[in-house]
Amino acid sequence: MDKIYVKNSKEKWFENDDTFHQLYTKKIQLLAKKHWTPIEVARIAAEFLVSEKNEKILDIGSGAGKFCLVAGHYKPNAFFYGVEQRKSLIEVAENAQIKLGLDNVFFIEGNFTQLNFNNYDHFYFYNAFFENIAGTDKIDESIDYSLELYNYYNRYLYKQLETKPAGTKLVTFHSLENEVPRNFTLVDTRMDNLLKCWIKI
Ligand SMILES: C[S@@+](CC[C@H](N)C(=O)[O-])C[C@H]1O[C@@H](n2cnc3c(N)ncnc32)[C@H](O)[C@@H]1O
Repeated sequence: MDKIYVKNSKEKWFENDDTFHQLYTKKIQLLAKKHWTPIEVARIAAEFLVSEKNEKILDIGSGAGKFCLVAGHYKPNAFFYGVEQRKSLIEVAENAQIKLGLDNVFFIEGNFTQLNFNNYDHFYFYNAFFENIAGTDKIDESIDYSLELYNYYNRYLYKQLETKPAGTKLVTFHSLENEVPRNFTLVDTRMDNLLKCWIKI
């Protein structure tokens, strides 16, 4: 009798973005192109961010959880935390996490300004504040948007990152770099300069 080889059932979700998006409802899938990190980007970012066991990585504005879930899958010895202001997206992310059975990923509901940055070693940032700029694509209309908030969040994040110890890593995707302190050095760029890897000096 022929043997049938079945691919590890978890691995199949990470074959490509379309397959991964099947973890989500149609509504969340439709937002993916503009708002959720591609698998390839998450893999490159995780590779750069994690160099030691048990490091803690924070995704600032984790949305549907895609960065944390992909990174958590490929880097099982690190911990990935996603903070997200929209409760509905925390639920989406946690549902996907259950399907993937990942135990090194954590989603925190709230504003990133409520977090203690001392609890995290390295950071991922996919232009989370852009919705505050007039004329940009919005995820939904459940929150208030303003240029004041955009500037406040950028300044707040800049100040938090500025005080992190030397060696702290940051990956930005589609960033205008307003949040990147001058004491972070650019060490690598990928994806036509959209993905940038930084280290604090
Ligand atoms: C571009 S999406 C990125 C999602 C995710 N990081 C990924 O790469 O798949 C940005 C997310 O940041 C969230 N966000 C924006 N400002 C935030 C804030 N001040 N605190 C927490 N979450 C925020 C938005 O609600 C949105 O879900």
